[in-house]
Amino acid sequence: MEAEPLIRTVSDTALWTAAYRADETERPDALFRDPLARRLAGERGAEIARRVKQKAVRFAVVMRTAVFDDLITSAVTDEGFDAVVNLAAGLDARPYRLTLPADLLWVEADLPGIVEYKEALLTQETPRCRLERVAVDLSDAAARRELFDDVARRARKVLVISEGLLSYLPPENVAALARDLADQPVFARWLTDLTGANVVKRVRTAGHELKGGGSPALFTPEEGSAFFEPFGWIEAAWTGLFSEGPKRGRDSALSRLVRFVSRFMSEEKRVELDRSVGVATLIRGPRA
Ligand SMILES: C[S@@+](CC[C@H](N)C(=O)[O-])C[C@H]1O[C@@H](n2cnc3c(N)ncnc32)[C@H](O)[C@@H]1O
Repeated sequence: MEAEPLIRTVSDTALWTAAYRADETERPDALFRDPLARRLAGERGAEIARRVKQKAVRFAVVMRTAVFDDLITSAVTDEGFDAVVNLAAGLDARPYRLTLPADLLWVEADLPGIVEYKEALLTQETPRCRLERVAVDLSDAAARRELFDDVARRARKVLVISEGLLSYLPPENVAALARDLADQPVFARWLTDLTGANVVKRVRTAGHELKGGGSPALFTPEEGSAFFEPFGWIEAAWTGLFSEGPKRGRDSALSRLVRFVSRFMSEEKRVELDRSVGVATLIRGPRA
């Protein structure tokens, strides 16, 4: 009989990233602290994190968490954003751990199974802002538009975040999602992580632990953020994750290797490496 895959559905990937956040929290030199992550990740999350031997994936999740933390905090504290929509929030616990304005509206959207699981584990916890959770399949166009309309009616300046979501969607669904987000004039900024095809191929080749699991990477645009331009979003900033390690004092073996190898690269290759995995800050642009 075939053993059950380590990652059964895409929602198991939320347990996995929560386990990385829990491990990070327990380090003496943690880049962030997420005290709820251990509970949310559970045994299964810990097991996935233990068995997936890809240090680069752990590094990327930790770095992107720290980068998103900073970008979100600055948007809601200094730049007048009064609402955050976290698409595919999974087991993210930022509403409980970041310093946030109490009147900030924070809407989390994810598939019903993970929303129910999270609700059950967090009933006793108090978020630091006005938190709402919506069970929705974001590939259902009518359902997601209803969600976006509802948020847009109640906010002036909305920050959209998608962290660890887009790579699981086929490009046509990402395009449709981008269009629907752009349809809402108050959705002013969209933060998303992006991973290049070359990185995914390497992880897939080495990552036989994931074989048979429900999380294939589908969206790895060759053109990077330019993919979003026809749908009304342009890149205002890019944070490459490989360079974040040294900047944040996390001099891992991987960071050292990347630094060493990049010394021998052409400028073009260095840029390509920097662009291969990171966080894009998208703002509204003209639509095609
Ligand atoms: C890698 S996890 C990321 C979760 C969280 N953002 C984080 O960074 O830890 C991917 C998330 O995408 C959600 N997801 C995937 N497809 C989805 C869909 N069609 N609609 C809503 N959520 C979806 C999964 O349930 C899961 O929580």
